[in-house]
Amino acid sequence: MSPDTACIPRLTRHAPEAIRSWDNVHFLHPWESMSPDPADRVIAAAGEGIHLVDAEGRRLIDGPGGMWCVQIGYGRREMAEVIAAQALKLAYHSPWAFASEPSALLARRLAEMAPGDLGTVFFTTGGSSAVDSALRFAQFYNNLRGRPEKKLFLARERGYHGSTYLAASVTGKDRWQNTMDAERRLVRFLPDIAPNRRPPGMSVEDWTDAKVDDLSRAIREEGADRIAAFIAEPVMASGGVVVPPGDYVRRTRDLCRAHDILYISDEVVTGFGRLGHWFASEPVFGIVPDILTCAKGLTSGYLPLGAMIVSDRLLAEISGEDRAEVMFRNGYTYSGHPVCCAAALKNIEIIEREGLLDHVRTVAPQFQARLAALGRHEIVGDTRGLGLLGCVEGTARPDLPEEKRVKIDHEFGQRVDEACEARGLIVRPLLNMCVFSPPLIITPAEIDRMFDILDEAIAEVGAAMM
Ligand SMILES: Cc1ncc(COP(=O)(O)O)c(C=O)c1O
Repeated sequence: MSPDTACIPRLTRHAPEAIRSWDNVHFLHPWESMSPDPADRVIAAAGEGIHLVDAEGRRLIDGPGGMWCVQIGYGRREMAEVIAAQALKLAYHSPWAFASEPSALLARRLAEMAPGDLGTVFFTTGGSSAVDSALRFAQFYNNLRGRPEKKLFLARERGYHGSTYLAASVTGKDRWQNTMDAERRLVRFLPDIAPNRRPPGMSVEDWTDAKVDDLSRAIREEGADRIAAFIAEPVMASGGVVVPPGDYVRRTRDLCRAHDILYISDEVVTGFGRLGHWFASEPVFGIVPDILTCAKGLTSGYLPLGAMIVSDRLLAEISGEDRAEVMFRNGYTYSGHPVCCAAALKNIEIIEREGLLDHVRTVAPQFQARLAALGRHEIVGDTRGLGLLGCVEGTARPDLPEEKRVKIDHEFGQRVDEACEARGLIVRPLLNMCVFSPPLIITPAEIDRMFDILDEAIAEVGAAMM
């Protein structure tokens, strides 16, 4: 009997060992290690509410909400029904040749939610393609405005914007990039803005001034006439949940506007309720960007979909009677996919009906207080977050012996992750950090359970490593 038919467990058709071995041998996962040792990942077999269920039936709280995306939680029957109904009615149409009800409705809805005059939506297949499209739009815009030399992008160290060649090129996570190519000639990175990395004794106000000066200097040195756009996440997510200091976001947006540099707000993580609002740019940070990118929570991860939302002013500036032959030659077979758009519309309906934006604003103080309390552990160097986004970082205290510091720097995240998983919680390890962004439906009792587990796990790791 072959291993795949030897045992028919409840949650998977094939035996978990068979699935694991096919996965190990044939599936090159994102950020796959080149080690010959098998990765032996946990098999995600089902999902219910805020829980993932593995092939052995173990229920785990999904701390990262998938990959910052499962806003409404798993196992929503009405999502499955809408997806099935749209697939039966019209599974696909060419976005070149046809319009359809789901994509037109969703575009109108997103235009209503987006700040300011961001009224035109370009649909993509996910976050990377949304960022890629936004950057390509910025170049296209400058070509049409007769300034083809205005092409440079400003981005930030530690920012993450995706995995297409262009999105990866504006990604500033250097530790992860050293063996992959990127188009660096198109990009200048601004130094780290993380407030916990400021020099000892420096106030947050002075740090904010210094970070705004980094942008001024880059504009001065490169020349505003060469810079197309500045791209920034309102809160850097994969870079370690870096909440910008003071009024940094508003001041950098104003500087860009003053120098005719487009501001692209990458809300792939911060959109759809993560910070208690549809988008964070305006209500949380007080800015209206020129272009906004989103994905992930747009469908709560039920289907892949992304979008870039563009200012109508920009489009008006490059449109005209004489421009009929000029095209934005960028698009995907699956732009505005009707089934994905139907899923997004249902997801938005659920977020609205269940008051999840209000819910996030209500439970965020408890979430942030429990997160901050993890700072009591000696091994924790920093805790930070906003809304339902959080990060706990291992200490880099200079008085620790070098060997200990290196170990914490490389292993803290992984060890906390393992200790949490043994207790029924998934967190996302990133070297010396663990990040989390649970489904927005998480209740106060579940938040307590999540942080009780983190607290125990960190105590265990601290006892072993300090
Ligand atoms: C801020 C940000 N932008 C873009 C992306 C890329 O999105 P995707 O993985 O859907 O292509 C991500 C993914 O984590 C992200 O965090």
